[in-house]
Amino acid sequence: MQPDWSALEAAARAARPHAYAPYSGFPVAAAILFADGRIVSGVNVENASFPLGLCAERAAVAAGVAGGHGAVQAVLVLTDAAEPAPPCGGCRQVLAEHGGPDVPVRSMTLQGRTAEHRLGELLPHAFSAPELKRRE
Ligand code: THU
Repeated sequence: MQPDWSALEAAARAARPHAYAPYSGFPVAAAILFADGRIVSGVNVENASFPLGLCAERAAVAAGVAGGHGAVQAVLVLTDAAEPAPPCGGCRQVLAEHGGPDVPVRSMTLQGRTAEHRLGELLPHAFSAPELKRRE
């Protein structure tokens, strides 16, 4: 079943003004549909200690996990970039922990241009829990 992309877009657009990006000047908002049907948003939250900055996607995953909403079903990422910007590598790894390879990830510009990929395309051969159990 297709996710309600317009609801995900509305959630991301509502969250975007709350992005805290004074250092990069690059606000990002993410909206994630979870298994229980809830849409949870997140924004990037930067810090004067630069490496501590948090990406929007990871903020949304953390809020969804805290709410007990289940697995990730669909992701929308909204940025000010000229072209749709897919999630960074770290966020791909975190999304892969909570959603399967078929999860659709839609990147969107403020003007509404989109690009869409499956999580498995964005992060093939993801490191995951079974790797931790392997012993040779
Ligand atoms: N950023 C995200 O929030 N998500 C991504 O997938 C890529 C980058 C944030 C991190 C930083 O606050 C700003 O965008 C510039 O890199």
